[in-house]
Amino acid sequence: MKRTKLQKERSLYSKNKIVRFFSNDPVYNYSSLGKYSKSDLALAYNGKRDIHSIISEIPRATFKEITSYGQIELHTHPNILIEGNNLTALDALLNNSDVSGNVRLVYIDPPFSTNQEYRIGSDRTSTVSSSNGDILAYSDNLSGSEYLEFLRERIILLRELLSEDGSMYLHSDYKIGHYVKIIMDEIFGASNFINDITRIKCNPKNFSRKGYGNIKDMILFYSKTRNFIWNEPRVEMSEEDIIGLFPKIGKDGRRYTTNPLHAPGETKNGATGEKWNGLFPPAGRHWRVGPKELSRLERLGLIEWSKTGNPRKKIFADEVFQRGKKLQDVWELKDPPYPIYPTEKNLELLKRIITASSNVGDIVLDCFAGSGTTLVAAEELKRKWIGIDESRAAITAILKQLQKIENVTSYVHYKCTASTASHYLKSRKKQ
Ligand SMILES: C[S@@+](CC[C@H](N)C(=O)[O-])C[C@H]1O[C@@H](n2cnc3c(N)ncnc32)[C@H](O)[C@@H]1O
Repeated sequence: MKRTKLQKERSLYSKNKIVRFFSNDPVYNYSSLGKYSKSDLALAYNGKRDIHSIISEIPRATFKEITSYGQIELHTHPNILIEGNNLTALDALLNNSDVSGNVRLVYIDPPFSTNQEYRIGSDRTSTVSSSNGDILAYSDNLSGSEYLEFLRERIILLRELLSEDGSMYLHSDYKIGHYVKIIMDEIFGASNFINDITRIKCNPKNFSRKGYGNIKDMILFYSKTRNFIWNEPRVEMSEEDIIGLFPKIGKDGRRYTTNPLHAPGETKNGATGEKWNGLFPPAGRHWRVGPKELSRLERLGLIEWSKTGNPRKKIFADEVFQRGKKLQDVWELKDPPYPIYPTEKNLELLKRIITASSNVGDIVLDCFAGSGTTLVAAEELKRKWIGIDESRAAITAILKQLQKIENVTSYVHYKCTASTASHYLKSRKKQ
């Protein structure tokens, strides 16, 4: 039974491993800004610490099991819910051989530096309230450099927890997100940046603020290496898409479009530069496929000749329609109108991310779990999950959400506290 592993495996990972990772990397930047950047661009701000100081000063975690749900198997890793500060909890997870380097997907939705307190109304539990009598869910009061350093410390540990084919999605907004992007580039390497997803989060607003209304936030998507898990998401094509993309209709009534069968660049020696049907590819271009394949396409009636005498390949709407179209980077997935927790995210959003970037049985981690949207999505998609949050209200919401799931798999709920009030903690409190 692996439940005590969180406490036991303290010596497993050497903090120097992370320091070595950054210092051995060929693109590591020993700039005057400090030894912390994997990229050749770095963000300068007050209080940015070197990696060694960050990881050597994290206080040790003490775990207390609060409760477990379901039959905990001896040799399988259970789902874990950790109540406590995510910095110490992540550090402890790095010492757990089942978890460290085995997390396939990280999604985080940290506070966005809004300088607000998020409360839950006691008489209106389904709405978010800002009345002082309501329960405090969490305070979002870090700003500027302090906020960025808070996030950076956690991203460094999260990257280390990922498997080599893992990825991380970070939810942010239009005010702070551009600074966070640079921090992510520094830690993951800019070459591992995959997407900046624009998420339409709400209906248009009509505030009196001078400026355009803001209905979007951003999700930054990075992979640990270029060889990352990717289950290509496809979306249904609309009637409008089909008419726009496939404007031609054949004698058989099938909608189609055509694509050129030649592409830029000449082939000097090779089949794609050869004569086909008495024709060489146009100057400066080559056939997309060799003459043999061109003849096969012609026999199947899949070639149409343009008015200028060039062969083009027919692409039929009904064939493409079955596969759906590629999902683009603007997603309209609004948050629930009656959340049970402030800033609760859309469940379908999390399901989309988890489906694309992990497989059944993989570990999905969210260390700013809130109401547990990620954990619920992971559970429903048969992934294993690890959720961390320091808010009592969040843990209560998560437990409630999990209870609603039929046949929920086993999980253990721990309380994690820092075992020593280290100098680091004291100095942070003073800030
Ligand atoms: C924006 S909310 C997450 C909402 C969540 N995505 C959902 O769908 O419900 C951010 C969460 O981060 C938690 N949090 C902030 N700082 C934390 C820390 N240092 N350790 C653990 N949790 C923290 C807050 O308590 C809050 O629940």
